Amino acid sequence: VRRFFLIVLLLLGSAAAGWAVLAPSIGDDPGVAAVQVVVPPLDGVARAGERIYAERCLSCHGPDATGSDKGPPLVHVIYGPAQVGDAAFLAAVRRGVKQRHWTFGDMPQQPKTTDAEVQRVVAYVRALQRANGVN
Ligand code: HEC
Repeated sequence: VRRFFLIVLLLLGSAAAGWAVLAPSIGDDPGVAAVQVVVPPLDGVARAGERIYAERCLSCHGPDATGSDKGPPLVHVIYGPAQVGDAAFLAAVRRGVKQRHWTFGDMPQQPKTTDAEVQRVVAYVRALQRANGVN
């Protein structure tokens, strides 16, 4: 019986060790600024913003604005409404952004995206921010 318990313990131990090695964890890869976010229920404007975001912003800012290896998460304290207001979103899209907070390089201007579209994207990003404690 004792041997049986030893074997069980051994198996559990190696399972835990294996999980610790294999489980991806945030911050392991310094090239990726990704965070984990909760996606709240979205109203109509935010849902429209989500579609525009998916087409024009997601490739760099990542799924649910969690960041990627090309751009930072927008669900982040430095992009809260008090830090980067709606006007700064408009400016970022119209004129681009010089690299300043991160090391991804500059954000190129996004001339396809109109101001009205940016406003919807902002509604989407603010909904994600609110649901994740970025106020
Ligand atoms: C080609 C990659 C790329 C695309 C596409 C892109 N961004 Fe960015 N964006 C960046 C990077 C990189 C930064 C961070 C620059 C820094 O601070 O170092 C950034 C920063 C920003 C900022 C912060 C501006 C500030 O004042 O600091 C906002 C807002 C933003 N992006 C919005 C958007 C929106 C909205 C879209 C889609 C319409 C978009 N971005 C598409 C790469 C991208």
